[in-house]
Amino acid sequence: MFYVQRGTKEWQDMDVAHHLHPFTDPQYFDTKKPLVITKAEGSHVWDSEGRKILDGMAGLWCVNVGYGRSELIEASDRQMRELAYYNTFFQTATPTQIELGHVLSGVTPEGLDHFFFANSGSEANDTVVRMVRHFWEVEGQPEKQAIIGRTLGYHGSTVAATSLGGMKPMHDLGKSLLPGFEHITHPHWYLNGEDLSREDYGLKAAQALEEKILELGADTVAAFIGEPIQGAGGVIDPPATYWPEIQRICRKYDILLVADEVICGFGRVGHWFASEAYGIEPDLMPMAKGLSSGYLPIAAVAYNDRVHATLRKGGVFSHGYTYSGHPVACAVALANIQLIKDDGLIDRVKTDIGPYFRAKMDAVLASHPLVGEVRGAGLLAGIQLVKNKETKELFPTEQAIATKCRDYCLEHGVIMRAVGQSMAASPPLIITKPEVDTLVEVAKVSLDLAAKDVGIL
Ligand SMILES: Cc1ncc(COP(=O)(O)O)c(C=O)c1O
Repeated sequence: MFYVQRGTKEWQDMDVAHHLHPFTDPQYFDTKKPLVITKAEGSHVWDSEGRKILDGMAGLWCVNVGYGRSELIEASDRQMRELAYYNTFFQTATPTQIELGHVLSGVTPEGLDHFFFANSGSEANDTVVRMVRHFWEVEGQPEKQAIIGRTLGYHGSTVAATSLGGMKPMHDLGKSLLPGFEHITHPHWYLNGEDLSREDYGLKAAQALEEKILELGADTVAAFIGEPIQGAGGVIDPPATYWPEIQRICRKYDILLVADEVICGFGRVGHWFASEAYGIEPDLMPMAKGLSSGYLPIAAVAYNDRVHATLRKGGVFSHGYTYSGHPVACAVALANIQLIKDDGLIDRVKTDIGPYFRAKMDAVLASHPLVGEVRGAGLLAGIQLVKNKETKELFPTEQAIATKCRDYCLEHGVIMRAVGQSMAASPPLIITKPEVDTLVEVAKVSLDLAAKDVGIL
């Protein structure tokens, strides 16, 4: 054992003494304790009290092939023994990194055959910012610098990724919104569509991009970035009309289109990448999470021939991370991609477990008095909570309705996530049908309990 086996209380006290948790109020631990997770297998994790919990979030939307897969463990072990580390700076390469670029080009959408490696989605998106601005400088249009994202967009937590995203509390923390970043509305028809049809609203929400481009001047705009389905913003799946219109506008004004596939990629929505499902043809496509199923940190930015040709003319690309193309992370990513293929996970999500999951959610949850909308695609789901189904009135923020539901879920042995006034689920792609049944039944129990708390049931 390479760490000391301690009791839950001791671990919790040590954690609170020494660790600042991401996205957590430190005062939370004045009255509550951290959950200590000690092991995992398949779709389940175990806490330090030995309690088995169904992981309805696949960690942080990432453990696509499930926990404990020996293929990934062996790939890491073998590569560590062979070559635990070497870098890719300057003119150096390693076999697993070379192979990963080759294999990725076989699964990414047509034309996206070039890759820059990073360690996280945030780093991939920082890379995107530098890449697209550099692109326009090399193209002789250095004034094309602005990047347009969306409200409730999430692209990571570094300063540049925070600026790409549209999360107000993140902008406020440390005054992190950099100049040159703009945001248009997120395309949530259920809450924002008013009396428009879903299709008409999709067009309207996309046309906000054209308005923003005209306001700023097309000759000042470098790129537009969006998640095909917004994850951390509440699993917002856009109307079918949205992305084609975004695509048209980007082409019309020669704005680079960036599809952030960090959550949606690697089978989450029943395709290698959600861009295929929505007909998006991105110029750049950051990916992370499902690339290694979270077993080791690795990310990449895929980009097309046009971007590649320009970068080739731009001299030294003065950007990189010590662990860009880390040989062990690349080995694990290769084993992970092979496993997704061998297990037929893309097709499973598209034709079997994805439709089952959605049908179950619709059947058990859609009619619940707290549920306004069940949305998503594949194994990615959002459950919109409302105070009044007729008027779509939301709960006051201080009632923290989604957090209540999330806490009840955990008490009943299932991890789901609270995002705004929605619940999110994003289980491993290997989840079984009985496990889906459990997830959805527990979600229902938690909704019932939360509804009682607020006097609705
Ligand atoms: C769409 C999207 N992009 C980027 C990121 C940032 O990735 P990371 O946390 O690996 O930096 C996330 C993380 O959730 C994400 O959902």
